[in-house]
Amino acid sequence: MPKIRIGLIGYGGIGRVHAAAYRAIPFHYGLPADSISITGVATTREETARRAADEIGCEFYTDDYWALLARGDIDAVDICTPNNSHHEIVLAAAEAGVHVYCEKPLAMNVAEAADMARAVDAAGVKAQMTFNFRFFPAVARARQLMDEGYVGRVFSFRGRYHRSSYISSDKPMSWRLDRAITGGGALFDLGAHVLDLLFFVLGDFAAVNGTLDTLIRERPVAAGSAEKAPVEVDDIALLHARLADGALGTVEVSRMGTGATNDLSFEIFGDQGAIRWDLSEPAWLQVYDARTSDSPLGGERGFQRIEAASRYPGQRAPDWTMSPDFMRAHAECQYQFIRAIWDDRPTSPSFAEGLHVQRIMDAAERSSEQGGWVELA
Ligand SMILES: NC(=O)c1ccc[n+]([C@@H]2O[C@H](COP(=O)([O-])OP(=O)(O)OC[C@H]3O[C@@H](n4cnc5c(N)ncnc54)[C@H](O)[C@@H]3O)[C@@H](O)[C@H]2O)c1
Repeated sequence: MPKIRIGLIGYGGIGRVHAAAYRAIPFHYGLPADSISITGVATTREETARRAADEIGCEFYTDDYWALLARGDIDAVDICTPNNSHHEIVLAAAEAGVHVYCEKPLAMNVAEAADMARAVDAAGVKAQMTFNFRFFPAVARARQLMDEGYVGRVFSFRGRYHRSSYISSDKPMSWRLDRAITGGGALFDLGAHVLDLLFFVLGDFAAVNGTLDTLIRERPVAAGSAEKAPVEVDDIALLHARLADGALGTVEVSRMGTGATNDLSFEIFGDQGAIRWDLSEPAWLQVYDARTSDSPLGGERGFQRIEAASRYPGQRAPDWTMSPDFMRAHAECQYQFIRAIWDDRPTSPSFAEGLHVQRIMDAAERSSEQGGWVELA
């Protein structure tokens, strides 16, 4: 396999996770240490870029991502910057003919996302979304069971992503609260993940009826400051959603879920069975088979837990019995991107899939503004 040399753009909270996960991949799959490396890193300031390079162990750092692209020895860029820069960087990477791995949400809006999907297709580069939560074996098993018709006709579904990260009114403004940088609030930040999970397991969305709200409408401009600025993005988004196949469900997204540290889950109810998964028990997929006998005294009826655990095909370490976690799922998402390059096969989740999620979020925002059901554009 040719060595994959990555240019990492952005080294904040998630850039550091990506860097650590690339380093772990060779250990998970028994690959030479240098089969995947980070060649250089770009941030907004030379000082932070230098510190990032020290941590990563790469020589090249810059405050201008164009300099990274201009090196000519980068196979792929990994975009870990705030949402308003994704479009510009993807177009630059496509122009430079390098593959692209991009954090969620794909873009600020549908028009940008569609433009990005077109640009990477036209350039013939591989492009993949970071929808890392798909990459728990239990979630992959849920998708397999849905493909096999395990639950039968889907009656309804439910997705939830609650965090408590913004419950303090003292928490100051940041780029995540600035619509010009983030594009949307909790819906874009957390909703992108749970909507992708539901899309991955259940299929295309058709229409949304949603309400978004901002629960703390002004915040300090900086930590400890008495000066306040208005918050123009949602803290909470509650959606009804209709899938293309007609199934109806609900999606709850909030960063004001007091006590909810990182509560992501989905449930699917069908006429033959049910499936549910919860990030707090990532190793297990819960399934209910309504075809089993409920007699005598309940027979064998009831939810059972499938030990999906760490059954990543081909994994050398750790062994399959260990629980997967956030970092492992990120590493797998990255590994599948790299495999798509090595094997010259389509990426998944592709930018087209990122665009679909963007369309769901856009329909939710329009529904909240105008009221009633809104079909995906
Ligand atoms: N998939 C996940 O689990 C997950 C988790 C957190 C964040 N994210 C996504 O990752 C992205 C970044 O989030 P974060 O929390 O790491 O942000 P952050 O603010 O912690 O870090 C952003 C980084 O981007 C750099 N940056 C900003 N503009 C740049 C530019 N034009 N060129 C080069 N560098 C630039 C900053 O210097 C900083 O290093 C967002 O799109 C966010 O939605 C995804």
